[in-house]
Amino acid sequence: MSVLVLGGSGYLGRAVCLELEGAGLDVVALSRSGSAAAGRGLRGDVTRHNLGLFGDELAELQAEVTHVVGVFGSVDWDSGPAQALDVHATGVRNVLRFSRACPKLEALVHVSSLLAFGRAEGRVGNRELYVGQDFRNWYEYGKYHAEALVREAEDLPFTVLRFGPLLGPDPAGHALGAGDGLLAAVPYLLQGYPVHLKHGGRFPSYVGDVVGAAEVVAAAVRTPATGATWTWFDPALPTVAEVMHRLCRPWGVVPKIVDSAVVGRVQRLVASRIGLPKALLDYAEPWFDLDPSVMDTLPGGPPACRPGYLAGTGRALLEPEADLQGSFT
Ligand SMILES: NC(=O)c1ccc[n+]([C@@H]2O[C@H](COP(=O)([O-])OP(=O)(O)OC[C@H]3O[C@@H](n4cnc5c(N)ncnc54)[C@H](OP(=O)(O)O)[C@@H]3O)[C@@H](O)[C@H]2O)c1
Repeated sequence: MSVLVLGGSGYLGRAVCLELEGAGLDVVALSRSGSAAAGRGLRGDVTRHNLGLFGDELAELQAEVTHVVGVFGSVDWDSGPAQALDVHATGVRNVLRFSRACPKLEALVHVSSLLAFGRAEGRVGNRELYVGQDFRNWYEYGKYHAEALVREAEDLPFTVLRFGPLLGPDPAGHALGAGDGLLAAVPYLLQGYPVHLKHGGRFPSYVGDVVGAAEVVAAAVRTPATGATWTWFDPALPTVAEVMHRLCRPWGVVPKIVDSAVVGRVQRLVASRIGLPKALLDYAEPWFDLDPSVMDTLPGGPPACRPGYLAGTGRALLEPEADLQGSFT
C-alpha cells in the first residue's frame, strides 16, 4: 500500500504518518512545508490544481497511490470565511479531483470533525450531517462543507472519520501550542480567572488522544471503503470540566469553573483584554446530543487512549518550548 497523507506535517498528520509507517506502509507526507515525521516529505498545496504538483512527480505519485488520507487544514476557530473555505472546501475539491486520477486508488480517508454538527438540535449520529444546524464559526462551517463534498463523491471509495478535539503529547516530540481549540482556555485558567461553563462543565467534551485518532485512521486505511462515516472519541468520555482539571493539574492549579451566565456575559465584554479567545465562549454549553452508539461501527471496537494523555498534555505545556501565548496574540 502506498499512502499519501495530505497535511502529514501537522499535529494529527505526524501521528498518522508514524502509525502508518510503523504498520509497514509506504508513506508520502504532503504539506506546504514538506516536512515529515515519518515517510517521505513532499511540498505541495491542496488549494492548488493537482495539489501544486506537476510533471513526472505528479504522474508517478498518481500511478502509485492506493490511499489518500486528508488530514490537512486549520483548526483555528477564529479563521475567517476566506481562510476556512479556501483550505477546507477548495482543498477538498482538489483532493477529490486528484484522487479520481489515481488508477490504483482503494480509499480516500477524509478526516472531519464532530464540530461539523455546529449547534445541531436533536440526536445526531454517523448518518446525519445537515440537520438544520447553524454554526458558531467558519471552522465549523468549513468542516461541514468539506464533509458534504466528500459524501457527494459517490464515484470514489471513501471513509469519513469524525473526531472531537484531539489532545495528548505529540508522538513525534514536537512542542505543543495553546493557540487553538480547548487548549486556548489553559493560559487563561492558569492565571486564576473564572470561566463560565453551563452545569459547571459537566457535559461531554468528546476529546480524544491524537495517537488513538491516528489508530482509527490506520484502521480506515486497512478496511475496504464503503462510503461509511466513523466517529471516535475517548471511550471514557471525560467532561469538559474534567479535561480542564487534568490539563491544569500538572501546574498545581485548580481551574475556577463556575455556572454563571453573568460571568459569561462579562467575559464576552472583556475577552480580548484578558487574553480569552472569544470563540471559546461559544462552547460554554453542551454542544450537541450525540448518539452513544456511534462508535459501534468501528472495526475491532474503539481504540483506547494513552493512559494519562490529558495530564500529559498539561505537562507538555510546561515545557519551555510550548507556546502558551496563542490567545494573547
Ligand atoms: N486537532 C484536532 O483537535 C482535530 C479534531 C478533529 C479534526 N481535526 C482535523 O484534522 C485536520 C488536521 O488537524 P491538526 O490539528 O493536525 O492541524 P495542524 O497541526 O494545523 O496541521 C495542519 C496540516 O495541514 C497542512 N496544511 C495546511 N494548509 C495546507 C495546504 N494549503 N496545502 C497542504 N497542506 C496544508 C499543514 O502543513 P503546512 O502548514 O506546512 O502546509 C499541516 O500539515 C484538520 O482538518 C482538522 O479539522 C483536528
